[in-house]
Amino acid sequence: MSIPVAILISGGGSNMVRLVESMTGNHPGRACLVLSNDPAAGGLQKARDMGIATAAVDHRDFKSDREGFEKELISEIDGAGAEVICLAGFMRILTPLFIGHYAGRMLNIHPSLLPKYRGLDTHARALAAGDSEAGCTVHEVTAELDDGPILGQALVPIRPGDTPEALAARVLVREHELYPLVLRRFLSGERERIFLD
Ligand code: GRF
Repeated sequence: MSIPVAILISGGGSNMVRLVESMTGNHPGRACLVLSNDPAAGGLQKARDMGIATAAVDHRDFKSDREGFEKELISEIDGAGAEVICLAGFMRILTPLFIGHYAGRMLNIHPSLLPKYRGLDTHARALAAGDSEAGCTVHEVTAELDDGPILGQALVPIRPGDTPEALAARVLVREHELYPLVLRRFLSGERERIFLD
């Protein structure tokens, strides 16, 4: 029996597309829902085009009621029967209520070599620091933002004259490699960290 996976997005969903495409054949998982906090997120239509159920819970409808927003997310996710959650460009900070409900079965992709550059603007910060390499990380989600156990990382050399946009584009290519690989391992019970150089 394959493991139902829900994917949470806020934008275009390029990582989501790679995850859905990877869950075929003898893959231990199957995408059961693509959920967004923005009804206009471009990734929702891409998911529908791939035949995946979609839903949107607009965080703006809840104003400062984070708990109400998260309870609605949980009802969509549990209603779809999802057992594992992938955050893929989901840009809302989640509270212990949501994280506790999915403890040990929720992954996130972050565009830096954690623990460096938690939060936003990771590429601009790596360039400003004069780093020679950047990359991305897939980790389990815990209460601390971008802090959970690391399951995989991929390296991207920084080139002279790189802009944050140029670097982001090369890191995104590695994200599309890393996330499906780590998800497959995670669903097969493998927790040892992998490193793609
Ligand atoms: C990715 O770079 C991801 O690491 C970050 O947001 C971006 C989402 O891109 N959290 P997409 O929506 O998957 O194309």
